[in-house]
Amino acid sequence: MTHTSWTPGRVNLIGEWIDFNGGWVLPAAIPLGVGISTSPIDGDQDEVRSAQFDGLCTANLNQSACGHWADYVLGGLQAARREGWLQGAASVTLDSSIPPGAGVSSSAAVVVGALKALAPDSVSASDIAQLAKRVENEYIGVPCGIMDQMAVAHSSPGEALALNTRDLQFRRLSIPANWNFVVLHSGVERQLADGRYKERRDACLEAAELLNQTYLCDANDLSSLPARLNGIARHAVDENKRTQSAISAMQSKDAKRFGDLMVQSHASLRDDFHVSHPDVDALVADAVSLGAEGARITGAGFGGCVVALVSGVDVENWSEALLKRHPKARLVCKLSASSEQTP
Ligand code: GLA
Repeated sequence: MTHTSWTPGRVNLIGEWIDFNGGWVLPAAIPLGVGISTSPIDGDQDEVRSAQFDGLCTANLNQSACGHWADYVLGGLQAARREGWLQGAASVTLDSSIPPGAGVSSSAAVVVGALKALAPDSVSASDIAQLAKRVENEYIGVPCGIMDQMAVAHSSPGEALALNTRDLQFRRLSIPANWNFVVLHSGVERQLADGRYKERRDACLEAAELLNQTYLCDANDLSSLPARLNGIARHAVDENKRTQSAISAMQSKDAKRFGDLMVQSHASLRDDFHVSHPDVDALVADAVSLGAEGARITGAGFGGCVVALVSGVDVENWSEALLKRHPKARLVCKLSASSEQTP
């Protein structure tokens, strides 16, 4: 029998690099997503096709990840077999409108989507998210946190997910009327699995251990840390506070406050956490000088996308003026209260 699913990508509005530090995060589904269809087939090889890439990928049922785009599907299929949701091989077709490698969770959407298509109805979205995280950690080899998988498993375009990454409790927040979140690719390509993600994550865990904290976000006094860990820890502690303030600002529809917090988050990611890039900094600065309430690098960083909150000026004129100043940048999507999924 053929099973299908649709899963959105996500943009993180604020709460960066703290989903493995016990922090609050505020991601939102974007109106771009991946459609997946799976059918059981005979034989001992999985088959994966994508509408976006040429060729058929075939793989043994227990093949290791090899750096191919199909790894995210194959890892999902292997996990589904271990759970008893799939017997034998499967043929999978993907059709995705999420730009890959841009920091908007194309990979989490594929793993979650494959698992969602195969899981029995009794399995919760949070359980699917946790299994998808394990696929990324253990099969793909990226030690990511839980934010992306929870965001794409639970949220729909038009709302944000205020998620406590410690206990996975969350609240859905409607995006206020007249708020437009605009996601732009900076034109600076990024690569997550290249070790830089792990390096930052390890630094956070080391800082938490030196401070005797289970979660770095709980630390108060950072003065005993070596200088190389100080900025990293300060970012985690402050970003958690900023995110909680941003959740309140969204609830009280205070765009100015929300925007200020985005700007502070960007400065911290640039100066304390060191995951920005000069071209991204210039894009963020111009986004704000042209009238956005705030803007910041989003996702893991090292290039990739920025997200801006535009509410007081015309969003079309604003985008046009910004893209004219930054010809390498491109519009990925806009997000508002009325965003709907696109096929
Ligand atoms: C990537 C990871 C997430 C999170 C962000 C940074 O998207 O997959 O778990 O750590 O980076 O906030």
